[in-house]
Order: sequence, then structure tokens, then C-alpha cells
Amino acid sequence: MQYRKFGKTGVEVSALGFGAMRLPVTDPTDNKSIDEKEAIRMIRNAIDHGVNYVDTAYPYHGGLSEVLVGKAMQDGYREKAMIATKLPVWMVKEEADFDRMLNEQLEKLQTDYVDFYLLHALNKDRWNTVEDCHLLKKMKEAKDDGRIRFAGFSFHDDLETFKKIVDSYDWDFCQIQFNYINLDYQAGMEGLRYAASKGLAVVIMEPLLGGKLAVPPVQVQKALPDTKTPVEWALDFLWNLPEVSLILSGMSTMQQTQDNLTYADRSHIGMLSEDDVEMLKKAKHIYDTMAIVPCTKCAYCMPCPFGLDIPKTFEAYNQTATKGMDIAKELYATLEKKADACKKCHHCEKECPQNIPISQVMTDIVKVFS
Ligand SMILES: NC(=O)c1ccc[n+]([C@@H]2O[C@H](COP(=O)([O-])OP(=O)(O)OC[C@H]3O[C@@H](n4cnc5c(N)ncnc54)[C@H](OP(=O)(O)O)[C@@H]3O)[C@@H](O)[C@H]2O)c1
Repeated sequence: MQYRKFGKTGVEVSALGFGAMRLPVTDPTDNKSIDEKEAIRMIRNAIDHGVNYVDTAYPYHGGLSEVLVGKAMQDGYREKAMIATKLPVWMVKEEADFDRMLNEQLEKLQTDYVDFYLLHALNKDRWNTVEDCHLLKKMKEAKDDGRIRFAGFSFHDDLETFKKIVDSYDWDFCQIQFNYINLDYQAGMEGLRYAASKGLAVVIMEPLLGGKLAVPPVQVQKALPDTKTPVEWALDFLWNLPEVSLILSGMSTMQQTQDNLTYADRSHIGMLSEDDVEMLKKAKHIYDTMAIVPCTKCAYCMPCPFGLDIPKTFEAYNQTATKGMDIAKELYATLEKKADACKKCHHCEKECPQNIPISQVMTDIVKVFS
């Protein structure tokens, strides 16, 4: 395993971190049905191969991801790896909620302290909650009393908001969505460099756009030389950059874990040639010309009160551009509720980190598939 400096903290982290948001499940329609035995085996295998950073959050897998990570960290694994988890800022109504939820998380994780604690999925609105409920003061208190070691935030909004948040507190680290497609999206390349220049460690989430870059559209795939897999190109793009502290991957199978461990082993800053970087820019350009809904299947929008499987509906729609109408129709046909079941309650839109106008897109989807 290769290790990288984690900003100004003095801590060294593995180039690859384990994201516990897409753990294997026994029932694909039930996110809470974590395949415990396999998930623990995967996390421990990653730690045995040098991974020292495991990322979870209060809402992942309907609240069960933290419990699973707590179990995986037994039998001596807590001493070998650091834990990151997050405060669901959208559930905070008053200052006291901070301690209530952090203490609950410590219990679920079976630990006295969290190494990396993040204010989860900050955006303009949630920043108001941070200020109104004095969450920065609470973060400092938790650091002082030893319940958390390092304070950070994860982020989904525009660059201006990102810079404002970076400058508002003495953060140890931040977590941003970034990959070779999202160069100028949300925090983007400029945000990455900005945060790093201020001494923050930068953790990367959605390095494969939630899996889309593992099997990119054929047009994009053709632009990538077959000397590496599409996953390897996407991860190497990030490891190449000195500002990147760690890549989180939400691995769903043991095979994915093993592949990513292999890629991480050979990673280093400056590993790509100028030609490689140019080639990835071209691949991004091709991707940008395709009308693809930027859903990363994080499922924060779920459950839908009207029973739609929103991520899968978008997947079918995107396949009309990436795989052709016939294949897209086949997937669409498997959906129990079709796009016309959307009643435009907009509940999901408040939760979507990508700010997708979901109800509007559902109207387009109805038209496309009729
Ligand atoms: N703070 C936040 O707001 C936030 C938001 C999103 C994520 N996160 C964190 O960041 C972590 C990483 O984000 P992410 O899960 O979206 O990462 P990602 O790497 O973009 O997507 C993970 C998916 O990529 C595919 N994949 C991974 N490795 C592969 C391989 N070697 N070969 C083929 N496919 C592979 C799998 O998809 P399939 O299973 O479909 O094949 C996997 O579920 C999350 O797990 C979570 O811990 C945080």
C-alpha cells in the first residue's frame, strides 16, 4: 500500500480508503440487507492489505453501515484503521442534537472516539444550520474532549459556497466529489487546489461517478487506451494529483476490493504523462456532449413516497444515450413503478446532492419511453 500525507494533521493515510456506502446486500431491493459476513470480510481484507481509513455515515444503509463498520473493527482491527463518520446536518434542529447523535454513533461504532468527523453533505442551506445551531463550536468541544480527532466536512454545492466554507473554520480536511468528468462541477479542480493550498487534506468521493466510470459509455471507452481498465484510468487520474490525500471507493464486491488494492499499490503522485492527462480531457469532452443525468446512485433521494426507484429510472434513461434505446427499454421494463408515478412532491429534490430537477426529468422520461 502507498501512503500519503493527510494535510497538516501529521497523519499518513492509505492512498485508498474503504467507503461503506455501497456494501454488498442480500436483497438488491433492500439497502438495509447488508451481507454482514461478506462486508466484514471485504473491509478486513482491505485493512490487512494496508487500508487505514474506513468511511461511513449516519444514514448509510438505513443507519446500519455504522453498526457494520463497528463490527468489522472488532478483533484488533480498530487499532489498525481509522474511522470517518458524519453528522447528518439535515437532521439537526438544535445544538443538543450534535452530542446526541455523535454519542449514538460512538455506540454503534463500538468506539470511544472517531478519527475523522465530518459535517455531512454541506451546501448553502445546511451552512445556515451549522451557524444557527453552533455546530462549529460543538466540533471544537468534541475535539477538546477527545470524542473526535480531526474535523472536516463533505460537500455538494457550487465553488463559491465551497470556498466560503473552507475559509470559515480551521478545518483539518474536507471531502469532495471529484473525478476526470467532474473537473468543473461542484468544488471541481479549482476547489481541490484551493482547499489544499489552505492546508486541508482532501478526501475524494465518487471517484468513479458512483460506478458509471467503471463501465463508461462506449464512446468514452473508445478514447481510453486498453493498457489499463477504465477504473484504473479514473483512479490514476486522481492519484496523479499532489492535492489529493486519499481516494474513497465504495466497493461492493471482494473482486472490486482486490482490484482497487492492486491499483493503489502502484499509485503515486505524478504517475501520468502529459499525453495521458490530455487523453482523459478528451474523454471528459466526449462524456459532456452526451445528455446524461448526473445521478451517481447514492440513493439519498430514496425512498420515494410513490414507490419509484429513482436511481434505476435514471439509469434506464441514461442508457438511451450510452447503450441505445433497445437495451434502455429492457431495463425500464423491469421497473415496478414507471416515471409517470412521480407526483411532483419534490421531496427527493431536497435530498439530491447533484441538485437534479428530478420531477422535471421524470416528465422527460415519460415522453422518451412512450
Ligand atoms: N459525503 C457524501 O456526501 C458522500 C456522497 C457519496 C459518497 N460518499 C462516500 O464516498 C465513498 C466513495 O464514493 P462512491 O461509493 O460513490 O465511489 P465510486 O468509486 O464512485 O463508486 C463505487 C461503485 O463503483 C463501482 N466500482 C468500484 N470499484 C470497482 C472496480 N474495481 N471495478 C468495477 N467497478 C467498481 C461499484 O459499482 P457497482 O457495484 O455498481 O459495480 C461501486 O459500487 C462512498 O462509499 C461513501 O463512503 C460520501
